[in-house]
Amino acid sequence: MSIPAAIEVSNLGKVYDSVEAVKNLSLSVQHGEIFGLLGPNGAGKSTTLRILITTLRPTTGTATILGHDVVKEADTVRRLIGYVAQERAIDRFLTGREHLLLFAELYHLPKQEALTRIDSLLKLVGLEEDADRVAKGYSGGMKRKLDIACGLLPHPKILFLDEPTLGLDVQSRLNIWEHIRQLKQQGITIVMTTNYLDEADQLCDRIAIIDRGEVRATGSPKDLKASLGGDGVWLTLSDATSEALEQLTTALHGLPFVRAIRPRESGLDIRVDGPEKALPAIMETTNAVAGCRLDGIEYHRPRLDDVFVAHTGRSLKDEPPAPAET
Ligand SMILES: Nc1ncnc2c1ncn2[C@@H]1O[C@H](COP(=O)(O)OP(=O)(O)OP(=O)(O)O)[C@@H](O)[C@H]1O
Ligand SMILES: [Mg+2]
Repeated sequence: MSIPAAIEVSNLGKVYDSVEAVKNLSLSVQHGEIFGLLGPNGAGKSTTLRILITTLRPTTGTATILGHDVVKEADTVRRLIGYVAQERAIDRFLTGREHLLLFAELYHLPKQEALTRIDSLLKLVGLEEDADRVAKGYSGGMKRKLDIACGLLPHPKILFLDEPTLGLDVQSRLNIWEHIRQLKQQGITIVMTTNYLDEADQLCDRIAIIDRGEVRATGSPKDLKASLGGDGVWLTLSDATSEALEQLTTALHGLPFVRAIRPRESGLDIRVDGPEKALPAIMETTNAVAGCRLDGIEYHRPRLDDVFVAHTGRSLKDEPPAPAET
């Protein structure tokens, strides 16, 4: 008998007024994995997470957490999960430890248990030395660690993290990744959202690529990259008419080492066996097609952004940058 998944989501949909934020979304999360929802701003990641943590009712579809329905058994689900919101809730006057004490009261943890648990969580996220400073003065990374410690207070079996490293500097991000990996080692299932390709690639065991409320692809970053088949050559063209692009695509398909061609913003994404023969031949072919001016050519091994382009038709890197931590 197969073990049921930690989370099962089936045909989930959410409409806010007239905005269809989540459409027919299905996925399953296995026990003990770090599962990432990767997508641009407005993709529907936070909405999906809020449905799973029972604070938002789906318009259609169902979701279960450890076998419990998020709508019909919301109270049971709440006892099994922890949640760290995308927006920070740091009080102006409380210290890090006092924040945790406040949360412990909200979760009705017995006082003595709370004190011991708070000490161990402060240690886990590396905030012991700063625990008695007013948290308003913490750096962005420290505030995020405090958020995570608060989410861990109720001993969750599944922890939901909404954009755990949004706007943080590189060092703080690596540090948070390390803490998330430690939680996985302790057997906690993690579901997180991210706008960052490298975070999805390096931290998550499996990801769902979400765009405009829909799941476009699911799998491990490694499998998703392998499924592209071949290395990538990105052509950037200027002023190419659709006839010229069509003619160029046909000509490129005739080259023996070209495996696949997909359109991308202002150019083509070409999958090839290797760079040596492909690059000169692609340049030559492009220059021979009237009406195609080659503005740039870029070669790279398969990357998660290529997966994103292959499934959504656009690059996640073209999105405007996320707002920085203030
Ligand atoms: N409370 C709300 N009322 C109306 N529309 C909403 C509400 N919350 C979200 N939306 C809309 O739903 C869509 C999905 O939003 P959501 O916050 O789930 O995206 P996201 O993937 O988390 O984006 P981000 O990366 O910016 O956090 C967007 O079009 C957003 O404007
Ligand atoms: Mg969000």
